Amino acid sequence: MGESFRFPGIPVGWYVVATSDEVRAGQLHTVKYFGEELILYRTESGQVHLTEAYCPHLGAHLGSGTVQGENLRCSFHGFEFGGDGRCVRTAYGKGVPRKAKLTTWEIREHNGYVFAWYHPEGKQPEWEVPVLPGPSEGWTAFRTRAISVKSHPQETSENSVDTGHFIQVHGFGDAWTEGDLEIDGHVLKGAYGIQYPLGDKIKFVAKFNVEVHGLGYSLVRVRVERFGIQINLLVLSSPVDHDNIILRTAASAKRWGALPITNLLREAASWGLNREVGQDAPIWETKRYLDRPMLAEGDGPIGEYRRYCKQFYPQQAEAKTTKLPVVAA
Ligand code: FES
Ligand SMILES: [Fe+2]
Repeated sequence: MGESFRFPGIPVGWYVVATSDEVRAGQLHTVKYFGEELILYRTESGQVHLTEAYCPHLGAHLGSGTVQGENLRCSFHGFEFGGDGRCVRTAYGKGVPRKAKLTTWEIREHNGYVFAWYHPEGKQPEWEVPVLPGPSEGWTAFRTRAISVKSHPQETSENSVDTGHFIQVHGFGDAWTEGDLEIDGHVLKGAYGIQYPLGDKIKFVAKFNVEVHGLGYSLVRVRVERFGIQINLLVLSSPVDHDNIILRTAASAKRWGALPITNLLREAASWGLNREVGQDAPIWETKRYLDRPMLAEGDGPIGEYRRYCKQFYPQQAEAKTTKLPVVAA
């Protein structure tokens, strides 16, 4: 990422911090997101929690701790913390320090992902990410791949409205927008058609319905009407710090013929999406973010997308508010 511009911070939103199968009951992991080391663990009953990494007692790193039933236990003096972060027990068997509390992050878990809510001031969640159909509704589970990229969630999500690069970078035969972008609070929706050549003779047309639910979660509903195929793609951008992300891509297919064929379809979609972000990544890593781009006719709705993005930086909104001129009477 070029050095000329810094986004106002990490945008407010839900971010994937693990796939569900990466964090098993009784396990604890040190992860890095939102610019700091954090502790991710699953209790014996199956609840996932995310907390700060340093014990409020005397500062030990909880990465060397253990999960004890429903609690997180520090390895230094054996203090235990409940899922809400409060100290519930000391190894001394006496009163617990009432103020000892770990900072915790709000968690949701569905579709095979663990999501954490990020707000720079620690405010509670303002929306939820959608729960998508899974195996009980005739869709496969998601197949997930992950890469590390030196970039920012606003840059990677901008891809979903940047129709101009679909042809140049990804080799689509054609790409066009269908209707206007719809923006409703934190949700942005857009529809595209793409034509994709398969060899010299065959071309197929796919419809993309893009839904962006904050900058960490983009859903693309793909339909290839000619073959009756439906696929859900996810692009999940999670900030490790201000300048680095883990970018997970995922695909789930609606049952299409026999199950092995459906799985093959999902695999092909996952492979294709992973290939596409592999084509984008070197551009993201070396580009500059231009606050005032010179847009041309034929570009996707990039200006509208950027206006939508502003709501995810409360620090910037407040900075603007405090700068309002005060006029003396
Ligand atoms: S530092 Fe964690 S229990 Fe003492
Ligand atoms: Fe792309």
